[in-house]
Amino acid sequence: MKSNDEILTLFENYLAQMQLPEEPQLLYQPIIYAMSAGGKRIRPTLLLLCCDAFGGDVREAMSAAAAVEMFHNFTLLHDDIMDNAMVRRGKPSVYAEWGENVAILSGDAMMIYAYKLLRNVPDEKLPRILSIFSEMALQVCEGQQYDMDFEQLQKVSVAEYMNMIELKTSVLLAGAAMIGALMGDASEEDARKIYRYALELGLAFQLQDDLLDSYGSEQTLGKRIGGDILEGKKTCLMLNAMSHASEQDREILRTTHLDATLTDQEKIARVKAVYDRYDIPRIINQQITTRFDRALSILTTLDITQERTTHLKTFAENLMGREK
Ligand code: IPE
Ligand code: IPE
Ligand code: MG
Ligand code: MG
Ligand code: MG
Repeated sequence: MKSNDEILTLFENYLAQMQLPEEPQLLYQPIIYAMSAGGKRIRPTLLLLCCDAFGGDVREAMSAAAAVEMFHNFTLLHDDIMDNAMVRRGKPSVYAEWGENVAILSGDAMMIYAYKLLRNVPDEKLPRILSIFSEMALQVCEGQQYDMDFEQLQKVSVAEYMNMIELKTSVLLAGAAMIGALMGDASEEDARKIYRYALELGLAFQLQDDLLDSYGSEQTLGKRIGGDILEGKKTCLMLNAMSHASEQDREILRTTHLDATLTDQEKIARVKAVYDRYDIPRIINQQITTRFDRALSILTTLDITQERTTHLKTFAENLMGREK
């Protein structure tokens, strides 16, 4: 069995030998820029770890792993346009560097390229994996639309929020994990369990993403701190604060991002002061722990030896303390 680090090295080597065309430069350069900008690679790592856990050959699963990472990076190109985000992984986003039109078209090309990569999946497995991939890709779009819809809504329930992050973030981790398990010839039942394990991880991951967006370090995270507050996003911090706060504080939460008399830093400080008043970071951290615990407990129910789940456990534990 291969460790997290070994898998990551194999994957980086696979990406490095991938040849993209050179022309037109403004189509392909942003793709190379995004794909080599040092993301965490959690989705391909998860796919390959799942394949390996069931005794599959990770080399055979490389192109599916690359497809998932390419798709993920495509979503980031478009997400940064939608979220008005100028910094990604400590560098200008593709949107900031080349503008909206380039980010749209290079993003489109990445999505198409992801399908091209999937074609290398062995014939007998392709229909199933293609169908999981397409389903999850469509769900990500649904989640992204809800995310934008919610910016305009006064009231969003926790259930609606959880559904939104499941769609925009978790299904991609879950789909990647399930594809990996199927590449490793897992039983149908185990493949479904792996899906649920990664779905819980994905929920924890997006809760952390929301938390880090307000409380992380700009240096480590490589994104602008406070972006969600400025965009009026209905994050888990915002929803939990809305349900705990006094009417006066709720008014602050509702209106601060729209207040043209405040600087961005003042807006961020004002909203975070309300979060702190109600101990919101601690509440969110508890929710994150609950999701990780669920993910780990699903692993114990798989029909493989516990030893074979070691690296999936470590993968979850590494994510748990993440600061980037
Ligand atoms: C960012 O994903 C988008 C979310 C779903 C929160 P990652 O945090 O995995 O981004 P990279 O690829 O490591 O930069
Ligand atoms: C992104 O969610 C989800 C997708 C890209 C599908 P966010 O908008 O919170 O991700 P970041 O914070 O920009 O990475
Ligand atoms: Mg977004
Ligand atoms: Mg974003
Ligand atoms: Mg975010």
